[in-house]
Amino acid sequence: MLHFSEVLTRLDHVHYISGQELADVNNVTRATIHNCIQKIAALGIEVDRVRGLGYRLKHPLDLLSKKDILNNLPDCVRNGCVETHCLQEVDSTNKFAASMDLPGVGSYSVVLSEMQTAGKGRRGREWVSPYAANLYLSIVWPLQRPLHEAGILSPMLALKILQCLESLGIPDLGIKWPNDIYWQDKKLAGILLELVGDAAGECAVVVGIGINVNLPNSAADNIDQPWVDIKTASGLNMDRSELVSKLLNKLLPMLASYEHKGFAAYRKEWQEKDFLADETVVVTMGANKTVGTARGVSERGALLLETNHGVQEIHGGEVSVRKSA
Ligand code: BTN
Repeated sequence: MLHFSEVLTRLDHVHYISGQELADVNNVTRATIHNCIQKIAALGIEVDRVRGLGYRLKHPLDLLSKKDILNNLPDCVRNGCVETHCLQEVDSTNKFAASMDLPGVGSYSVVLSEMQTAGKGRRGREWVSPYAANLYLSIVWPLQRPLHEAGILSPMLALKILQCLESLGIPDLGIKWPNDIYWQDKKLAGILLELVGDAAGECAVVVGIGINVNLPNSAADNIDQPWVDIKTASGLNMDRSELVSKLLNKLLPMLASYEHKGFAAYRKEWQEKDFLADETVVVTMGANKTVGTARGVSERGALLLETNHGVQEIHGGEVSVRKSA
């Protein structure tokens, strides 16, 4: 069956192309092309149709380019990349990445997709993933020592992503523990870490990163928290391929060294960006809720929570933190 992207990649916002020509080049019927155009329109991509001329896009469309992404990486980062997948549609890039062969120690693989039909957020949430609007990126990184220092990976990744976004001209960013990137009071990006392989042997972490780049309001109905995209936060029309290269360039050297370097050297920088610093927060663990004051992050990457009983370290992915009313 013809995938709608085979039609979409032949459309631009300048030239018209007839339904017959699209049918001929794809070796399908006009009815199939019509169905693909309907699917494209249902994704929120506006298509202009003029009788006698054919179809063209109403607005330019920036699709991910594997070639541009790889060309913009320095040799030392590009050479470590074993596999790069730039998909049109997938259930979840993390799920796809977890099913791939593990790269050898010191190398990595990358999965990107224009859309996800079952994008995964933390704590079982859905990650809303409309076509060509945002960034859905997964990096498979083998761990030298199974599970070693996995707790510090999360805040370090958040810090590096924030620094990368800042360097691209996005102001006023903060990190909400453990690893959400916020702009003002709205979520801009999230990270989902998943371990794959054998915890006692060969194992890797799948680093899943979702960044809202230009998220249409029409697609955001299912988002259950305040959100923002790069376009709104900065006014920038971000080239997503360039963003991927810049991210990989920032994250890969960190992944290669964090097990030796540790988090201590980055803790001060992290705390300068702490969205929750000195706020009253509620930590939910299963049925238990603890109210306290957020006092930054420990050298092991845990949230430091001050309560009447002193300061305690909060670890673990099932912990949720909410600003109290
Ligand atoms: C969060 O809840 O904050 C984490 C969101 C992580 C979303 C990204 S998008 C790419 C990767 N694939 C997924 O299915 N999820 C992560």
